[in-house]
Amino acid sequence: MRILIIQFSGTGNTSAIANILCDEFQVHQETCEFIPMEDILQARISPNYSDWDIIGIGFPVHAMDAPIIVYDFLKTLPAMRKDYFLFKTAGSSFASAGSTFRIRDSMAKLGYRLKHEQLYVMPPNSFGTAKPAKVEKRYEKCIVLARQSASEILAGIRNKIADPPLRGLLYAFAGLEKYGAVQSSKHWKVNSDCTSCGLCAKQCPTQNITLENGNIRFADDCLLCLRCWWNCPVRAISHSFLKPFFLREPYQLPDYKQIQDKEHLYNKDTL
Ligand SMILES: Cc1cc2nc3c(=O)[nH]c(=O)nc-3n(C[C@H](O)[C@H](O)[C@H](O)COP(=O)(O)O)c2cc1C
Repeated sequence: MRILIIQFSGTGNTSAIANILCDEFQVHQETCEFIPMEDILQARISPNYSDWDIIGIGFPVHAMDAPIIVYDFLKTLPAMRKDYFLFKTAGSSFASAGSTFRIRDSMAKLGYRLKHEQLYVMPPNSFGTAKPAKVEKRYEKCIVLARQSASEILAGIRNKIADPPLRGLLYAFAGLEKYGAVQSSKHWKVNSDCTSCGLCAKQCPTQNITLENGNIRFADDCLLCLRCWWNCPVRAISHSFLKPFFLREPYQLPDYKQIQDKEHLYNKDTL
């Protein structure tokens, strides 16, 4: 089977799951590639979807919905009869409720058939502190779940997450968050520790950050994905009023290559 995974990830959780899925497909002798969604939106990659048997779409839950970049990506998909699976990462299972309902709907209109859907509760990338033990525990549970999901996808076992009640209300809340993200776009700032290395500008998925004459500028197209804040090597990026929403410090997931062979990561009972 040829599997193409297209994923968006702000702070690395979703791309970590994409990596495990791909790895697991390859262990089963299947062909798998995964690409960042923004590479398609910025025309760096134009996949030929007919070359692939199944497409995977992954994203982080933002305000109980998918980030707007996912909806922008869906607009680029050609209509065709093709199988696909969805996966999303969130900081909790509670507040990740309706985030795939609209995506499923748009995909069905284009002719795509949902084969599998999975939520991964990863360490949250916002609010409070992320203790290393909790980060590791959640990540390890997700590794087991991703391996199981990969096997289910290959075996054609269907999995669909039930839709929550009050979907309309959830999407109204998500709409507010998207509006808030745009409104807060220009309130990002850098302090004097900034070395103008340009990493934030290079990595921003919406090209919202530019480096002009050595100065970092933020425009008004932020997704609130936190990638710039998370990855700044000198921790120079902050926000005028969103600080209470941030983690105290970004965390690093354990290196998958280092831990992948641990015996308990093959055991479904660890879930
Ligand atoms: C703007 C924003 C909104 C979020 N909203 C939710 C939410 O509604 N429910 C939830 O469980 N997690 C929420 N999270 C946490 C992320 O979904 C979670 O940490 C995810 O794994 C991040 O994935 P990434 O590292 O691939 O960006 C939110 C994070 C951000 C930055």
